[in-house]
Amino acid sequence: MTSTESRSMPTDMVTVVTHPLVRHKLTHLRARTTSTAGFRRLVRELSLLLAYEATRDLKLEPVTIETPQETMEGEELSGKKLCFVSILRAGNGILDGMLDLIPSARVGHIGLFRDPETLEAVEYYIKLPDDIGDRICIAVDPMLATGHSAVAAIDRLKNAGCNSIIFVCLLAVPQGIACLQKAHPDVRIITCSIDRELDDHGYICPGLGDAGDRLFGTK
Ligand code: URA
Repeated sequence: MTSTESRSMPTDMVTVVTHPLVRHKLTHLRARTTSTAGFRRLVRELSLLLAYEATRDLKLEPVTIETPQETMEGEELSGKKLCFVSILRAGNGILDGMLDLIPSARVGHIGLFRDPETLEAVEYYIKLPDDIGDRICIAVDPMLATGHSAVAAIDRLKNAGCNSIIFVCLLAVPQGIACLQKAHPDVRIITCSIDRELDDHGYICPGLGDAGDRLFGTK
């Protein structure tokens, strides 16, 4: 896959959101001239649109209500409740937009760093709701790059009892998708774009730079 353009799903477990609003906002997000405030606002808006896509298959049940005119059969959400899980630190940037759409969702956090010698993902923080096994988990990280931290985070979610997991990111590369799908073929991936490749430093190209630094203004 060499183009950065949004395209139809490469497999039924990977969704690239092709809505024109997403493509427009993503272009502005990528631009190096976008300010920290602008970047944060765009991530929030894109996250809301990604949450809309990630929740497309939620179950509904009929409910009878009274409108001011008459009685009618409506629908409301039923079945498993949601938990958003932020992969620290950049995942936190995605939470706000998702919580705008679903304010009642629970939120978990997983912090991992890469051991410089073993290159393994090492956990430094984890806090998940006690009932996470009963919830649909939407794990969020803006960038699916090597895929190692996504795999490690999902390992921990499964160890905590979660068996219904969706991974949501802004950008992915084929290498990261392959890594995540190999380890967790049951996890659906939702992204705004599949970019070309990783550079020698592990950055997505063309990408958007370091998502954490751009979100929090740390560089
Ligand atoms: N993490 C980032 O923040 N940016 C990349 O390009 C890859 C990983």
